[in-house]
This record gives sequence, C-alpha cells and structure tokens, in this order.
Amino acid sequence: MALPESEFQRRRGALSAAVDRPIVLLAGGVRDRNLPGYGHPHRSSSDMLYVSGCGEPGAAALLIDGALELYLPVAPPGDALWHGPQTTLEARAQGCFVSEVRPIAELEGRLSGLLSSGGVATVASPDPAANERLAWWTHRALRFGVDPGDDDLVDALCALRRRKSASEIEAMRTAAALSADAHLLVAAAAKPGVSERSLAAMFEASLANAGATPGYGTILTRRGEILHCHDHSGRLALGDLLLVDGGGELGPAFGNAQGYGADLTRTWPIGGRFVGRQRAAYSAVLAAWQAAVDSARPGVRYRVVHDASASVIAEFLRAEGILTIAAEEAVGIGAHGLFFPHGVGHLLGLDVHDLEAFGDRGAYPPGEGRADIFGTRFLRLNLPLEPGFVVTIEPGFYAVPSILHDPTLRERFKGCVDWAKAEAWLGFGGIRIEDDVAIAESGIDVLSEGLPRSLAGVEAAMATRLDLAAALLR
Ligand code: GLY
Ligand code: MN
Ligand code: MN
Repeated sequence: MALPESEFQRRRGALSAAVDRPIVLLAGGVRDRNLPGYGHPHRSSSDMLYVSGCGEPGAAALLIDGALELYLPVAPPGDALWHGPQTTLEARAQGCFVSEVRPIAELEGRLSGLLSSGGVATVASPDPAANERLAWWTHRALRFGVDPGDDDLVDALCALRRRKSASEIEAMRTAAALSADAHLLVAAAAKPGVSERSLAAMFEASLANAGATPGYGTILTRRGEILHCHDHSGRLALGDLLLVDGGGELGPAFGNAQGYGADLTRTWPIGGRFVGRQRAAYSAVLAAWQAAVDSARPGVRYRVVHDASASVIAEFLRAEGILTIAAEEAVGIGAHGLFFPHGVGHLLGLDVHDLEAFGDRGAYPPGEGRADIFGTRFLRLNLPLEPGFVVTIEPGFYAVPSILHDPTLRERFKGCVDWAKAEAWLGFGGIRIEDDVAIAESGIDVLSEGLPRSLAGVEAAMATRLDLAAALLR
C-alpha cells in the first residue's frame, strides 16, 4: 500500500498555488520519556506526513513552487553500534518523490536566505522543541492547537486534507480492515473473568502484527458510560457490556501512506448474548446509526446527520417513559443529550479527529460557532458534506451518573423528564456503535463494513473460537 507520486504532486502544487511563499514544516522529534535518549514512540506531525510522506523523527520539508526539499537528521559517528547503520539520505527519501534530500544541518542556512527575501509560511508541530527551533529560525512563536500558524497555509491545509482522494480512501479502508480484525480478536477473547488490560494488549498486538499502531489511546472498558475511559484495570463479569473504541493507523511498513487511521467502536455483551434491556438499548443505537447513515450524502450539513441520530435516541427515551415531550422538541432543546451527550461523529484522516489541531477552522463554516445546545455542543463538524469527506458515524446511549445527578440539568429539563425512570438506568454502562464512512458522489461508502454490528452479527462474533480468531495474527 503506497500513495502514487501524482498524489503528492497534486498536494504540493495546490499548496504552493494557495500560499505565495515557501512553506516549511517540521515533523517533530522523539520526545524524552524519563531519560535523555529514552523517548516516547515517534509520530510525525500530520501536516508533514501529508506533504512529504516521510515519517522520520526530526525531519523537515521545504516546499517551493510545488517542489519538495526533504531535510533529514544524520546520525553521529558511533551511533551504528547502538541503533544499527543508517542508510543513505537518498534511500531514506524513497517513496517521498522529492526534488532534493539534504542533511537537516543545512536547513537553517537555507531558511535564513529565504527569510531575507519574502519570508516563509509555516504551521506548528505537535513537538514543542520543534516549535522552539521554528521560532528561532523564522521569528514566529507558534503553539500547537492554540496558535497553529499562518492563516493562508492553515486554510489551504484544511481545504486539501478534508477532501480525501481515492487512494487516501483506500489507505483508510486498509486501516479499517486491520482494525476490524483487532476488534474481532477481542470479541472472541472477551469472556467473564478476563481482564480489560489483557484484551487491550491483545487489541494492540493485533494492530502491531498488521503493521499498524493505535491511532489514539485505546478505549476498552466495562464502564462504557465514561466516554473516553483509558483505564484498563477492570475485569469482565457475566452480563457486562464491554465497549471497545479502538483504531489502528498505518505504520512505516505502509511507506508514504503511513498515518492514515480508523476509529471504530463496538459494544460486546459479556456472556455472548445481549440480555434484558441491553437488547432494546442496543437496537435503539443501531437504529440511530442507520438514521445517520441514511441521511449522510453530499450537500447535507452534518448537523442534520447528528439530529437524525438524536431523534431516534429521543424516541427511545420517550418509549421508555424517560422523556415526557415529543422527540423533535427534545432534540431542539438538547434533552436527548441526557443519554447521548456527544456529537454523532467527526472528520477522520491522518488524525482521529482530523484537522482538530486547527480548532473548528477545518470543520465549521467561517464565523459559525458551536450550537448552544446540551450534547449538540460537542458536535465536531457542521460543514455541508462533500464527496471525499471521511467521517465517523458514532451514536451512543449512556447512563452517566454525573449527568443524571447534575442539578443544573435537572432544573433545565425539569418539565420533560421522569427522573425516577432515568435513574433506573444507572449502572447500565454505555453503548456506542462507530463506523468510518466516506462520502461519495452518489451516497456513502462504509469503510468498516467488515466488522459486524447487527445484534446477531455481534453475538456470532463473540461465539468465534479464539484459536480461529487468533489466526488473524498470522
Ligand atoms: N475515539 C474517539 C472518538 O470516537 O471520537
Ligand atoms: Mn470517533
Ligand atoms: Mn472512537
């Protein structure tokens, strides 16, 4: 799996056309964990990956009139003893389709020449040390996620990265397929008595075996009502719901396609069968998923997709006697958010919340803020959908104590909720169903179609013999 040269030429040509000066991007380096030289696993900045296809720590890219110069760190003498021999600069730049590759030590001099003749454009790297170097070289103080960089470059990156090409979509389909295998392995192994930690390790081993790494901290928990629970200290019990929100991103084995990821959630009933009210709640979330998918097509604003899901959850809450007002009214004031408190999804790509390092600039129309509605406030995208957008569809249903006991929410929704009926769900946990979807000219393309989501499909996946599921690791 590799992206073609034409893909990088298109990106570079479009960026140079939109920004009237050279563009410099820093990948960021290995960040120390506890000792100098003992670092966290490296992950290059997504903008660097997008423009260069190079995932090496410490690398930099300089784009001038559509041609890319790549700058790479050179190991000091003696380093080969500890880390093995370094190949040539040219070999390391293979697959990046660059006009030149040079040692990183030459970048500062090259930039000082460019700065005295019109300046350069840049964006922040996730690595603060890289931003300090950038500030020193370019006299620009940038802070990742806060002050992300030059407006023209940020806008151009948002417009380009948001619309995926056919080859990017294939890379993401690969990420979704190998992530689906990891979910299926966990489903087969998830039995009463098994620890969350062992299942999380198994999930990530399956990704590693396929050449991928977790694209975000794996969420694997019997406490699914904690939306981003990264604690894995629990042990499964019969009747639990196990929520697994995990996705791999393509690693260096995928060459210049590295970084593209998946974001998938399944909720598995421990014991192999949905029991009691789990069945009805799961069916409601599945219907909400279907309503979202049915409404997602080019030209439709993502808020419409969100509201389609929210209405189904509100109907369910009404049928359960929790909401005492009509579903449409409930969605308008955010009462559905008592059990579905997040947005229906977001952009996905090189980042799990794609472009979120630029705030809402990549995901909301200029000048438009978030809706001031409980739950809907967390919707991370509200552009009209376009062919090439890849988004998640991830409705859920959660019994969250901190929501149901919140005095402000109780006051706000006092006339529309039967609180005793709402509280009867405490201890239920949470359900989320999340898939990755590419918007096509004529509708949608579910990239994660290989991962079962129906009641029967989920139960069948849990009944798979572990030795057969482990065959996915070969
Ligand atoms: N995995 C985080 C999310 O679904 O947004
Ligand atoms: Mn997601
Ligand atoms: Mn997710």
